[in-house]
Amino acid sequence: MNSPAWLRADLMRVEDLLLEAAGDSLNSLVSDASTHLIRAGGKRIRPALVMLSSRSGGPGRATDLSAAAIELVHLATLYHDDVIDETETRRGVPTVHSKWGIEIAVLAGDFLFARGCTLGAEAGGEVPGILARAIAEVCQGQIIETMTIGDPRRSVDEYLGTIERKTAALFRAACELGTATAGSTPEDRSALMTYGHKLGLAFQIVDDLLDLVGDPAETGKIPGTDLREGVFTMPVLLACERDGSLAERLAGGDRELNTVLPKLEATRALESTYQTAAGLAEDAIGALRSIPDSEWRAHLEYLIESVLAQIPKEAVT
Ligand code: IPE
Ligand code: IPE
Ligand code: MG
Ligand code: MG
Repeated sequence: MNSPAWLRADLMRVEDLLLEAAGDSLNSLVSDASTHLIRAGGKRIRPALVMLSSRSGGPGRATDLSAAAIELVHLATLYHDDVIDETETRRGVPTVHSKWGIEIAVLAGDFLFARGCTLGAEAGGEVPGILARAIAEVCQGQIIETMTIGDPRRSVDEYLGTIERKTAALFRAACELGTATAGSTPEDRSALMTYGHKLGLAFQIVDDLLDLVGDPAETGKIPGTDLREGVFTMPVLLACERDGSLAERLAGGDRELNTVLPKLEATRALESTYQTAAGLAEDAIGALRSIPDSEWRAHLEYLIESVLAQIPKEAVT
């Protein structure tokens, strides 16, 4: 994702805060494990949303702190998610648990949550409350998803309810943090939060498609992980609705990407899923209509396009 120079400058300040907060520990093992994924890269889309939304008002130090805080919270969820999903690769590097073991990954994840909260407390005002509410949503979303593992007949509505919590809540919170710390008007705050919510839903649907059709060199993740773990996402659930024999095969443990993918293609479930993401992207663009035309609004629009553009066109047409 290309960013304009002013946004890159904002994100560089956030980067310093991130490394300082995660690297400040009693010993080098804690610092190494806690900064591992920060150093590996990542898109930094949540801090970018904080910084962009804050342009609707007057950003300040609390905005920078919130942007770093939300990325630390996101990182913490990734440390734990990789343990749950038994994933070996993230951001193109070995996951924390595969390098240091599950105990360190869980505890370093907790450490990152705490460091995110520390920055949130330093930012003050509404920030700690917004972060705490978002963390609670993400945890509930992850728990609900874990409860439905292995069930190819969970409904698409249930799926949407889960991703609303585990992913969209943090995107929405990012936009709320940007506007809250910049003293934006209630109208701008509400419009940007709707944008974040819709973008977050589209983002997770695209991520779930990428697990099936993505290029690992670009995603930095191993394809077919959701399938293997029995996390049946929208394309798979739609295909199961359309072809009952697929649901039986998946429930019976046949979860290899190269045998399942042709079934997904035959039912056109990939196309339908992509259309849902594109519809949510339209909703996100619609939410920006009340925002005055500006460079930062244009970049919020660009982010929507670049999320969708990750999907190879030939996979969904
Ligand atoms: C991964 O988030 C978790 C999901 C919600 C799909 P990102 O795709 O934003 O991961 P990074 O931060 O770029 O590594
Ligand atoms: C996880 O969703 C979302 C979180 C709250 C961490 P995924 O399991 O799809 O994320 P990836 O694909 O591992 O990044
Ligand atoms: Mg995962
Ligand atoms: Mg995923």
